[in-house]
Amino acid sequence: MKRDKILEDLVTLTQSIEGWLSPTEGILLFNLAKSCEGKGYIVEIGSWKGRSTVWLGWGSKFGKNLKVFAIDPHIGSSEHIQRFGKIDTFNEFLQNIKAQKLDDIVVPLRCTSYEASTILKEPVELIFIDGAHEYDMVKQDFELWFPKLVEGGIMAFHDTDSYKRDGPRRVVEEFLYKSQFFKDVRFVDSITYGKKVVRNSRLDRIKNHYSLLLLRFRIVIAAKIHLPKTLRKIGKKLINFLQL
Ligand SMILES: C[S@@+](CC[C@H](N)C(=O)[O-])C[C@H]1O[C@@H](n2cnc3c(N)ncnc32)[C@H](O)[C@@H]1O
Repeated sequence: MKRDKILEDLVTLTQSIEGWLSPTEGILLFNLAKSCEGKGYIVEIGSWKGRSTVWLGWGSKFGKNLKVFAIDPHIGSSEHIQRFGKIDTFNEFLQNIKAQKLDDIVVPLRCTSYEASTILKEPVELIFIDGAHEYDMVKQDFELWFPKLVEGGIMAFHDTDSYKRDGPRRVVEEFLYKSQFFKDVRFVDSITYGKKVVRNSRLDRIKNHYSLLLLRFRIVIAAKIHLPKTLRKIGKKLINFLQL
């Protein structure tokens, strides 16, 4: 199947899986997974019902067919438990993965990020972090998985564009945008991602800071000015375009 057609189909299909990932974010995950060279596996922290897993899985199928380790205890994060009470998303997750014929590539690990980090010894080439959103938990995810990420590997975090639930945003500010160990730190919708390097250059750091300024600008504008949906879309596109 052609790439554009599959992307079109995936946008429709993934919208039927309950989740919060936007189509633009999905396409980013697809492209990141597709670009993996085989230096390590793909890992996802926080799968819920599989929306992001499906994007990663299909990206990998169009690339090097790398395994996608999908890590989640499947009992929801604190905000889900508050909202829905006791939950179990595992069966629905498995059904969605099977329906997409991704069960040959997606390896579900029903456990926490911490537990998985003690089991998985393999190097990681791409990690998407969308588990617990409290600052300490997101920081722990960073600290657990950063050492496993290969040089040139990509670390991506969801929900980094909020000053309200600000765990992911604070972590990416401290550990990606302001780090010496990441270059090409960028954002697409709420996802911030960057490439691990031994040490970045001064120019890399300037570019990373510039992206951070754009992200902060976008967050403030979105919080202060209520724009109609179309203008918001155009604004997002414009800000994405302004990233170097
Ligand atoms: C926002 S949802 C993930 C949404 C999913 N990425 C998607 O695109 O639909 C967060 C998930 O993180 C899981 N979670 C919470 N704490 C976790 C932890 N310590 N390790 C791994 N997953 C965790 C929850 O069970 C929940 O399913």
